[in-house]
Amino acid sequence: MRKTAILGGTFDPIHNGHLKIAEAALKEYHLDRVIFLTSGNPPHKKDRRILDAKIRHIMVKRATSGIDGFESCDWEVNRKEYSYTVNTLKYFNELYPDDEIYFIIGGDSLRDFDKWYMPQEILKLCTLLVYDRSGGQLKSDFAKIIPGEKIDISSTKIREMVANGEDISHLVPKAVNDFILRNNLYKEIPDFEAHLKTMLKPERFAHSLGVRDTAAQMAEIFGADVEKARIAGLLHDNAKNMDNIYSRCTDLEVELDEFEKENPGLVHAKLGAETAKCEFYITDSEILDAIRWHTVGRPKMSLLEKIVFVADLTEPGRSFPDAPLLRKLAFSDIDKALFECVSSTIKINKMRGAKIHPNAYEIINELKK
Ligand SMILES: [Fe+2]
Ligand SMILES: [Fe+2]
Repeated sequence: MRKTAILGGTFDPIHNGHLKIAEAALKEYHLDRVIFLTSGNPPHKKDRRILDAKIRHIMVKRATSGIDGFESCDWEVNRKEYSYTVNTLKYFNELYPDDEIYFIIGGDSLRDFDKWYMPQEILKLCTLLVYDRSGGQLKSDFAKIIPGEKIDISSTKIREMVANGEDISHLVPKAVNDFILRNNLYKEIPDFEAHLKTMLKPERFAHSLGVRDTAAQMAEIFGADVEKARIAGLLHDNAKNMDNIYSRCTDLEVELDEFEKENPGLVHAKLGAETAKCEFYITDSEILDAIRWHTVGRPKMSLLEKIVFVADLTEPGRSFPDAPLLRKLAFSDIDKALFECVSSTIKINKMRGAKIHPNAYEIINELKK
C-alpha cells in the first residue's frame, strides 16, 4: 500500500524548515511521498497581509520539484471557500482510495488539536504525524512522533528579513530566493500610490490617478464597490513600464493567448494582475480580474471590469476624438459606454492597420443583443 503524507501550510514563503520536516517524516515512516498542500486565500481579512495563494504555490512548486518523494498540490489554492482539515482529508482519501493517508503537523498544533474542527473524524481519516523539535520531549497517545531537531526558521522571520534587505539564501531553496528577489516579494511599501509612482513613468502615473478617480465616480453611480474600483483603477497599468514582460509572464505562470504573444502592448494587463499580487498584496479576485481584462475585455464582464475598462478610456487625461462622447456615456449608461469604447478601439486600430483582438467582436455581439 502506498503511503502518502500531506503537509499543509500557508508557505508564505516555503523554507528549508518545511523541507526538513518532510524529509524526516519520509525517512522515519518509510513514506512513499509527501504532498505539500498550499492553503488558499484566507476567508477574512486577517491582521497580516498574506501573499496570494497562487504566488505562494509557485514557490512551493519550485522548492519541491525534482526532489524524490516530494510533490505539491494546488487543490486549496483553486477553491473559493475555506477548507477544514477534515474536508481536505476526505478529498485525499477519495482521490487515493488505495493509499494510506498521513497528515503532518507541527508540535505546537498538537497542543490544541482537540479544538480543531471534528478532531475525532480527522483521526479516522489519517494517521497524524507530529514533528518533534524539542529533542524527544514530545509525547502523544493519538499521534505518531517524527523525531526532529530544533528548527530556527520561520516564514515570519524570513519576511521581516527580506523587508529589511537581509540575505535569506541560507534559509530557503535557491529557486525560492531567486523568485522572491525577482518579483519584489515581501517589500515594505509605504502606500499604494507612492509605490506605484516608483514603477511608472510620470505620464502613466498621472493616467493611473485619473482612472482611479473616474472608476470611483462610476462605481458610485452604478452601485459597484467604490474602494475596489479605486484600487483596480489605480493599479490597472502597474506593469505597463516593466522590462522583460514575456520572461516575467513565464516566471509568474501567466497564460497568454496567441494574440497577446504577438502584441507586447497587451501583455501588461494579465501580467499586471500577477504583479499586483506580488507588490501590492492584492488577493481579491474581482480587483484582479478588473486589472486582468482592462485591455482586451471579455464576454460576460463583471460591473467592476466594465468600469475599469471604460474609465481607462475616459479619464480626464484622454484626448482622442471620441473621448468627450464616451465620457458622457461613462456616467450615464455603462453598457452603452462599454459598447462605444470597444467600437471606438476597433475603429482606431483599423485605421492604424493593427489587428483586432477577437474578444472585442465577442463583446460587441454580446452587447448588441
Ligand atoms: Fe493598460
Ligand atoms: Fe490605462
